[in-house]
Amino acid sequence: MSEPILEVKNLKKYFNTSGGVLHAVDDVSFTLEKGKILGVVGESGCGKSTTGRAILRLHEPTSGEVIFEGRDITKISNAEMRKLRSDMQIIFQDPFASLNPRKTVSELIGEPLRLHKIYKSKAERQEKVLELMEVVGLAERLMSSYPHELDGGRRQRIGIARALALKPKFIVCDEPVSALDVSIQAQILNLLKKLQREMGLTYMFITHDLSVVNYFSDDIMVMYLGKVVEYASSEELFRAPTHPYTKALLSAIPVPRLGAKKERILLKGEITSPIDPKPGCRFAPRCAYAKDICFSQSPELQDIGNGHKVACHFCKEFAGQ
Ligand SMILES: Nc1ncnc2c1ncn2[C@@H]1O[C@H](COP(=O)(O)OP(=O)(O)OP(=O)(O)O)[C@@H](O)[C@H]1O
Ligand code: SF4
Ligand SMILES: [Mg+2]
Repeated sequence: MSEPILEVKNLKKYFNTSGGVLHAVDDVSFTLEKGKILGVVGESGCGKSTTGRAILRLHEPTSGEVIFEGRDITKISNAEMRKLRSDMQIIFQDPFASLNPRKTVSELIGEPLRLHKIYKSKAERQEKVLELMEVVGLAERLMSSYPHELDGGRRQRIGIARALALKPKFIVCDEPVSALDVSIQAQILNLLKKLQREMGLTYMFITHDLSVVNYFSDDIMVMYLGKVVEYASSEELFRAPTHPYTKALLSAIPVPRLGAKKERILLKGEITSPIDPKPGCRFAPRCAYAKDICFSQSPELQDIGNGHKVACHFCKEFAGQ
């Protein structure tokens, strides 16, 4: 295994709500190697964005460690964290909502450079803005345009340029294409992949689209109600999904080859509430294989071989089925 850039240990993020304590992220641990892409998948509300934000301390973690390049960043001061921001960036789902509508393309891309006082003169900064525009495929003539004058793809290119401006090492891509037209999604995904390869970036790539994550990721982490239920290399996860929830998720992807048959596993019922969750496996109310133990004991994430990890009391029986 090469050098880890990020180690997340027992990360928790709870929110106090009027209904009780909401366990958005509940004991999440994983290691991410430098230059790799980790795909994070799961239904809406399972804690994907909160995990990404807690890692970047955009939400202060409730507990746990986030070790970035050997240093636990949950323990550093806000001033030190501000310096680290240039290394750790985020690309948001909705570029329109995350961009100030009163600023031009060049002001928006130049903003992180100005805030971090990277260049001495305005001319130098402007030169860097133009370079970044070229890197993300924005024509120079768009410099003075406003976000509302551009289509979703171009707006997301601004978001990507802003994230890249400070030469980050790690980027949380939070559903970067799901607000875009299908025709534009592939262009933006290809751009993100090209940048990752050329700049040696490490991504945490959040999506609910499994076909995207298969194309994009080295490893995949499947989440359910704040918990990691399965973690494996992308190849292994698609070849041998083991957790009943992962199997159901994967069964919903259309099979591209004509004539290939795949049985769709329908999930029963709704996702349960993350507020004051009951003991036991969080998937138990929807699991076709649930037994008594599943309602009383929470399954640990265990390695079933070659780093393939599954949180299910019966994972050894399910493996290879
Ligand atoms: N600031 C907040 N205050 C209270 N609860 C929150 C807050 N942010 C998120 N949550 C709750 O935490 C849980 C996880 O939310 P999160 O946004 O991380 O899910 P997600 O997996 O990113 O979902 P989606 O696919 O819809 O983006 C949800 O139940 C959500 O309602
Ligand atoms: S622990 Fe039990 S309820 Fe949970 S996924 Fe496994 S079989 Fe289903
Ligand atoms: Mg989200």
